[in-house]
Amino acid sequence: MIRTYFNGKAAIWDEIAAEKDQSKLMQMAERLDIRPGSMVLDIGTGTGVFIPYMLHSIGCEGKILALDIAEEMLHRARAKGFNGAVAYLNADVAHIPLLEASVDSVVCYSSFPHFQDKEKALAEICRVVKRGGRLFICHSSSREAINGIHNGIPEVAHDVIPEEWEMREMLSEAGFADIVIEDNCENYLCRALKKG
Ligand SMILES: C[S@@+](CC[C@H](N)C(=O)[O-])C[C@H]1O[C@@H](n2cnc3c(N)ncnc32)[C@H](O)[C@@H]1O
Repeated sequence: MIRTYFNGKAAIWDEIAAEKDQSKLMQMAERLDIRPGSMVLDIGTGTGVFIPYMLHSIGCEGKILALDIAEEMLHRARAKGFNGAVAYLNADVAHIPLLEASVDSVVCYSSFPHFQDKEKALAEICRVVKRGGRLFICHSSSREAINGIHNGIPEVAHDVIPEEWEMREMLSEAGFADIVIEDNCENYLCRALKKG
């Protein structure tokens, strides 16, 4: 269902929905603690809107694994011709085709609300991230604004960012610690560390 919805939007995504404010994307990427040489898993990469900004952070030695359930979105990301540091995975976050402890950081930019089984998604993310690695769940608007937009679209009306207490509970249960959530009119950013 969600796959069909995003496959149907792929051709027009960059025009109608993707964040166009490059300074916002750049500032968000700079706020993520992604070190040069990192292996980053970008879950729900879509058409790869956030990839250029993460490429800047990982430098020459890093790698981005761009994962999405919707093959048409990934097709658009691939067509952008990013350099060889980017590899693509057509998969569901609930079944990530990677070995455990294989990535340094996981980024969910504008995608987390759409994960239908959030507990399972977080358990999988925790499995593939290294100890001491980080998860970043981010958006270019507040939780209230994002949820309001989704509420107005029947296909994604129930795809919301959980309340802070629920987010903390889910992350802790999945194996994350040091949870910091910032929610203001400019951004939403949730950071968490995989327990050592
Ligand atoms: C709102 S779009 C955001 C795309 C991109 N990050 C951006 O900011 O333009 C959400 C993306 O998450 C993907 N997605 C939704 N559920 C997913 C799942 N269970 N596993 C992997 N990707 C998923 C969708 O296919 C879609 O491309």
